[in-house]
Amino acid sequence: MTCSMKIILFLTLFTIFFVSNLVAQEEIPHLQQVGNKYQLVVDGKPYILVAGELGNSTASTMKSMEPVWPRLKELNLNTVLLPIYWELFEPEEGKFDYKLIEDLILEARKNDLKLVVLWFGSYKNSMSSHVPSWVKLNQKRFPRAVSKEGQSQEILSAFSENNIKADLNAYQHLLRYIKKIDGSHHTVILMQPENEIGMLPSARDYHPLANQKFKEEVPKELMDYIINNEQNLNPEFSKIWKDNGAKEQGSWEEVFGKGLHTDEIFMAYYFSRFADEVAEAGKKEYPLPAYVNAALNRPDVKPGDYPSGGPLPHILDVWKAGSPNIDFYSPDFYNPRFKHWNDLYERQGNPLFIPEHDFDNTVAAKALYAIGHYEALGFAPFSIEQLSEEPLTPKEQKLAEVYEIIHQIKPILDANRGQNQIEGVLLDKEVNEKTFTLGDYEFTAEHTFNLGWEPNSGGDIWEPSAAIIVQTAENEFYYAGYGVSLKMTNLKKPNSQVGILKTDRGYFRDGKWNVFQHLNGDQTHQGRHIRSFIDDVSIQRFTLYEYN
Ligand code: DGJ
Repeated sequence: MTCSMKIILFLTLFTIFFVSNLVAQEEIPHLQQVGNKYQLVVDGKPYILVAGELGNSTASTMKSMEPVWPRLKELNLNTVLLPIYWELFEPEEGKFDYKLIEDLILEARKNDLKLVVLWFGSYKNSMSSHVPSWVKLNQKRFPRAVSKEGQSQEILSAFSENNIKADLNAYQHLLRYIKKIDGSHHTVILMQPENEIGMLPSARDYHPLANQKFKEEVPKELMDYIINNEQNLNPEFSKIWKDNGAKEQGSWEEVFGKGLHTDEIFMAYYFSRFADEVAEAGKKEYPLPAYVNAALNRPDVKPGDYPSGGPLPHILDVWKAGSPNIDFYSPDFYNPRFKHWNDLYERQGNPLFIPEHDFDNTVAAKALYAIGHYEALGFAPFSIEQLSEEPLTPKEQKLAEVYEIIHQIKPILDANRGQNQIEGVLLDKEVNEKTFTLGDYEFTAEHTFNLGWEPNSGGDIWEPSAAIIVQTAENEFYYAGYGVSLKMTNLKKPNSQVGILKTDRGYFRDGKWNVFQHLNGDQTHQGRHIRSFIDDVSIQRFTLYEYN
């Protein structure tokens, strides 16, 4: 190649590199479907939210955030979920205070962290405690929800145009500002308008504006959604509609019947409209993806005793009909039925993201399970910064180690997403064995306490264990996790035995696999299984073969 040809080639490659970087920078974070799953795309690359959510008041000053940033880094987070409070953002009507959001974004950048901004606007855990004083003090202009008994609540009525307009105006200013200072940096990657919307202490609002709407016909948008999606409705919602005659028009009680369930459906629709109008106003300024989160209901508790009308699985169809600007709906976990609720939220292709999980000693295992089994967009323990003892407590340490291996295996997760090549298991004393299939292989995963070799395996409560298993070639797999042992059979060769050809323990650096140890002998129980013990958060690459 001549010298001038080399220069031309160099300039061409440089231009391609430069332009594609520019394009990635211009690209607003967004969701993208890959195979049968979704992923968040940030700066042109798949992104997994290896995250934590701050306690409610921590992000209210930079002073209070000072000790938090290093802690977040120690825990190996790449993303922090934090609130912006309407009362601080718009302390006087029309006067916006951008200082806090600006400082938070700049500091997050310095710490190489992305942000999910939670808009604590009109609704925060069903209440309206975060609205500014000029809203709180003007009940005439900003009407409140009323209980069945006629008592005004510290909750703005979702049926008031004034309430909606005031909230969305503030949110719109917030998004305009985020675009201005962050539109080409993408520190803020996702928005959560409002927080755990729902109606308490009655199943529906009894404000005269609400009563008026309750007498009217079910809006056409909701009826059309139900009719057009008849075959695909969630079964519990479809049953209510069909048991009441599958009517195509009528008042709320005519279409869905009389009862608390109808009060809840009614609230769900108008709450979804409220959240949608807020999200839409923000997206007009800067179309970051937006989700809403739900306080999960408990069995046998009635709507109104739990926050009625939130984005819960049994009324998610109503939310979907009412909120086209909301990209997905997320469960907050303060109860142990992790699989149960995630299975319900995964229906109808809803991308799964867990924005809140009680920061208990199950979070590390559940992060692996969510990202492995559900190929979730991300996972975040709640009040991630509260346990500020030094050094890290055991559950913090476990989470930090798990987050570290998730970062390491991210390239193979990205490459195999949505292709049925990734699985996750979550095991404890009650559910200590699970089978699953990857390619031709059926895996039996067991909690390693079943082997009886670890000190606590005789105890009554077992620390949960978990692993992600990824198939990267016909007979090649990665294991990332702790406290799980794996045995395999080949479904296509039922008369053959499956043996371990090779197992290495290692790590990914810059996306490249490095071997730390070749594992065999006691470490594979002389070739009988793949495993790492409960205190050994690690990655292994293994290949399989068959013999007769
Ligand atoms: C769920 C809410 O979304 C959080 O903001 C917080 O209030 C937790 N509950 C409980 O501390």
